[in-house]
Parts: sequence; structure tokens; C-alpha cells
Amino acid sequence: MHRTVRPRVLYFGTPVVLVSTANGDGSANLAPVSSVWWVGQSCMVGLDETSRTTENLARTGECVLNLPSSGLVTAVDRLALLTGSPVVPEHKQRKGYRYEPDKFGAAGLTPLASETVGPPRVAECPVHLEAVVDRMHPFAEEDSGVIAVDARIVRAHVEEDLLVPDRPGHIDADRWDPLLMKFCEFYGDSRNLHPSRLARGWDMPLRRT
Ligand SMILES: Cc1cc2nc3c(=O)[nH]c(=O)nc-3n(C[C@H](O)[C@H](O)[C@H](O)COP(=O)(O)O)c2cc1C
Repeated sequence: MHRTVRPRVLYFGTPVVLVSTANGDGSANLAPVSSVWWVGQSCMVGLDETSRTTENLARTGECVLNLPSSGLVTAVDRLALLTGSPVVPEHKQRKGYRYEPDKFGAAGLTPLASETVGPPRVAECPVHLEAVVDRMHPFAEEDSGVIAVDARIVRAHVEEDLLVPDRPGHIDADRWDPLLMKFCEFYGDSRNLHPSRLARGWDMPLRRT
């Protein structure tokens, strides 16, 4: 039997991506996102138009999509209620966000120089995808406040242990354990992994386990 409901969010489960971008002063910003899907060598990223990441992408057209494994959940959660925007938008203030100019430091993550784009990679992430923006589209209803960013991967770096031996360019699905976000909660290996600050900020129901 199905019930008709109006789901508060439709986050059925997508990989978490740490997007690094360059701020106007050349410093790095880093933001967790999970509204991402992939086609061919490109991906579409759904972003709040008020985010520092969106502003940086519109100005520079470059980023690195760093894919954390589930073991990096603590670092990702430290970034959850932070923004690189010095003026915190009101809707984020209400959720408990604060300005943080040093996201790498706040998360305890290490910047690593990229090869083809300005923003640094996240050394601890097993996958780094250097990307350029092809287009930025309005998304959903007018005034939704969401932007869809169409980004093309120009260079990929993958931790050697994840590669299929003798098959360059193939990643072993059994060895790749992505950090997933389901309904604002963190999952890996199909288990809930860590209390989520994002879920707290969104006033999501508390997990019973
Ligand atoms: C696991 C996780 C997933 C998130 N997914 C998204 C997303 O897909 N799109 C988005 O705009 N914000 C997402 N956020 C919230 C952003 O991280 C937040 O807007 C942040 O302030 C962006 O940082 P910035 O303002 O420095 O760019 C997510 C946060 C977490 C913790």
C-alpha cells in the first residue's frame, strides 16, 4: 500500500562531492555538495545561487570535484554549516551557518596543487576531477534560487588502489566506497555513519539509531 505524501526533500541518495574553487583574492574555497549527476565526461551540479562556490564558478569557470570516501565523513561534516561568503545570507543564518575563510583548515584537509585549473585538490580524497564550466543554467521554478552548473572534466586523478589492474581508466566498483548523502544523513557501505550537522540545520527528524 502506498501513501500520498509531500516529501520535505527528495535527496534519495547521491555521492558527496567537495568542490574547490578560487576566491577573488586567490585563496581557496571548499564546499560539500551532493546534487550531482554525471553524463559522459561532464556533470551537472545543483547549487544555491548565494553560495561562494557559485560566485567563484561564475567568475573563474574552474573547479575541482573531489570525491570523498566514506572514511572522510568527519571532515565533510565539519564543513556542513560553513560558507566562504563573508556576508552570510539570511536563509543560511537561520540554519546556523557561519562565515569561514579557511575551509581546508576548518575541515583538517590538505590542499594539493591542481595541474590544469587554479583551485587546489583535496589530498585526502581518493578521486580528484579537475573541471571547467561550460554553462550555468537557471533551474526549477523562477526565483528558486538554484543554479545548475554544467561542468566538464578535463583531468582526473584516482588513487592507485582503486584502479583495476591492467585496465587503465577503470575504477574497481568493489573498492570504491563513496560517501553518500541520503535525506541529509551520511551513508557509506549502506550504513549510517555519523551525526549530521546539515540534518540539524535543516531540522530533519532525529535518527533513532
Ligand atoms: C553533505 C552535504 C551536501 C550538500 N549538498 C549541496 C548541494 O547539492 N547544493 C548546494 O548548493 N549546497 C549543498 N550543501 C550545502 C553547501 O555546502 C552550503 O551551501 C555551503 O554554504 C556552500 O559553501 P560556500 O558558500 O562556501 O560555497 C550541502 C552540504 C552538505 C554537508
